[in-house]
Amino acid sequence: MGVSIQERWTDDAAVVLYPGDTRELLGTMPDDCAQLVITSPPYNLAKAYERKRLDLEEYVRDQAQVIGECVRILRRGGSLCWEVGNHVTGDEIVPLDLLLYPVFRRHRDPSSVTASSGTSSTASTASAASRAATR
Ligand SMILES: C[S@@+](CC[C@H](N)C(=O)[O-])C[C@H]1O[C@@H](n2cnc3c(N)ncnc32)[C@H](O)[C@@H]1O
Repeated sequence: MGVSIQERWTDDAAVVLYPGDTRELLGTMPDDCAQLVITSPPYNLAKAYERKRLDLEEYVRDQAQVIGECVRILRRGGSLCWEVGNHVTGDEIVPLDLLLYPVFRRHRDPSSVTASSGTSSTASTASAASRAATR
């Protein structure tokens, strides 16, 4: 028995594969409908699959919009896993999780944050950012 794959979000869809901008899809989803969001968003490196390279402020603004929508659809106790690497320019390597951490922090529910330790600065920052976005 196969699983049906739909192109639009509905409450009872087993799998939705939306062929478009994630912001459009998120906009069709109601508040508190997801337990877990896992994403590997763009790193803004001008890779072939990226639309165009944005300046970092614009990139963070765009990602903040997506993060806000992800938090909106998460139910209380849900988690957001945001996997990013580094933004590389000619003379600088910028860890994107550091840039995005203040955005996750804005959404933090202090009652849901617990202490834990990480083994590397990136892992601990990413994990702190994910915890910060846990509702
Ligand atoms: C870091 S890659 C992740 C690739 C993915 N994990 C995979 O294995 O194919 C980021 C992906 O996000 C896509 N993307 C960028 N902006 C998007 C948007 N607004 N809505 C949907 N996808 C987007 C890019 O085209 C790219 O495929």
